[in-house]
Amino acid sequence: MSGPASESETSARWRLSPVDSVEGELTVPGDKSISHRALLMGAIAEGLTEIEGFLESEDCLSTVEALRGMGVRIQQDGGQSVRVRGGGLFSLQAPSAPLDLGNSGTAMRLLIGLLSWQKFEATLIGDSSLMKRPMERVALPLRMMGARIETREGTPPVIVRGWDRLRGIPYKSPMASAQVKSALLLAGLRASGETRITEPSTSRDHTERMLKAFGVPLRQEGTTIAVKPVQRLRGTRIDVPSDFSSAAFFMVGGSIARAGTLRLRNVGMNPTRTGLLEILSAMGADIAVEGLSTHGPEPVADLLVRPASLRGIEVPLELVPRAIDEFPVFFIAAACAEGPSILRGAEELRVKETDRIAVMSRGLTALGVRHRVLPDGMLIEGRKASGPVFSGGTVDSGGDHRIAMAFAMASLQASAPIEVVNTANVATSFPGFAELARGCGLELEES
Ligand code: S3P
Repeated sequence: MSGPASESETSARWRLSPVDSVEGELTVPGDKSISHRALLMGAIAEGLTEIEGFLESEDCLSTVEALRGMGVRIQQDGGQSVRVRGGGLFSLQAPSAPLDLGNSGTAMRLLIGLLSWQKFEATLIGDSSLMKRPMERVALPLRMMGARIETREGTPPVIVRGWDRLRGIPYKSPMASAQVKSALLLAGLRASGETRITEPSTSRDHTERMLKAFGVPLRQEGTTIAVKPVQRLRGTRIDVPSDFSSAAFFMVGGSIARAGTLRLRNVGMNPTRTGLLEILSAMGADIAVEGLSTHGPEPVADLLVRPASLRGIEVPLELVPRAIDEFPVFFIAAACAEGPSILRGAEELRVKETDRIAVMSRGLTALGVRHRVLPDGMLIEGRKASGPVFSGGTVDSGGDHRIAMAFAMASLQASAPIEVVNTANVATSFPGFAELARGCGLELEES
């Protein structure tokens, strides 16, 4: 990757012919959020961190390269097994060039927190999407802790001038964001006193679970989490479950299909991530959770997905942060449901890899789905007749991985072929998606 010049997202397209069924057993790749965190914490831990089930995607490899650029020794043994040889809290070295985080907002925001107390200066950049994303949401509270951070009118490049004199603060976050919470927790590892973050509702808690696994005590009360300064993190072994957000495409695909059964193996079932399962179940989906096991910090289960007649839903507000990455594919499910569906309180979708409300709306229009855009969500009318829901047509994902994969699932309810353009960025979160999708019955041709 070479910074703003790396515009791979303008290339590659899919052609999906209509199909009726999906069938089979599949294991989707490892969790992106957990893979990033394991690398970052392993880098500042003492001793070896072994990561099993690592997601070898472009986003996570951006974190690998950034850490290597700061002298961290990271060994990849055949993709999914990664060893990080941590040298302790202050073992990172000043990078000789800007750190390029590609498409990854998680990598950039978490690194800002981690670098805020290091002993050097670093500049953080990314691709054209990341260069437009808001960074003040982490820079502002970190400055309140004493950190020296500059953004360019709120967006990258971000310059972090490390300084080991941060002060812990109580911070009431205006948004439920795991990236904000995690940046502050990572900064709090070296801030004096207590760093305390309160969220309006709980965002994904992988950072909290993993910090504990690395030996860091945390205090938790309702939606407040607090950390005190530590002397060390202890290297450990991290087993990464399959990413619920990647499984989500097949949960919707298997539900809107007319026939077939899908078994999704070893899916991460952290309750702060499984909002879509609750939403689909309330819509009438037939998704069974089997073999839920709670060994290790992250629960996992198999999901058995069968076709179902879905009903429209008003998405409960408290589920929005717990399903935040799944709304593109939720819109596909809602289009196939009987009766209207409404999503509100999801203005965060406007500042993801793309403005996901606007880009999804354009794609839904191209495929003949009646809907109304709301400032903070969308109203989708739902299916009117028993035939296919989506017309054929061309959809531009805008270079957004989740939008491309969501529209691939529409081919299970389409009357003619669907072209999805700008699909290269699917590799940021789900390498091998096209092969897996074909393996369970989608007719997806790449060009
Ligand atoms: C993530 C947090 C979420 C999510 C993103 C990954 C993380 O973002 O959308 O894909 O790993 O912390 P916000 O924390 O900004 O909501």
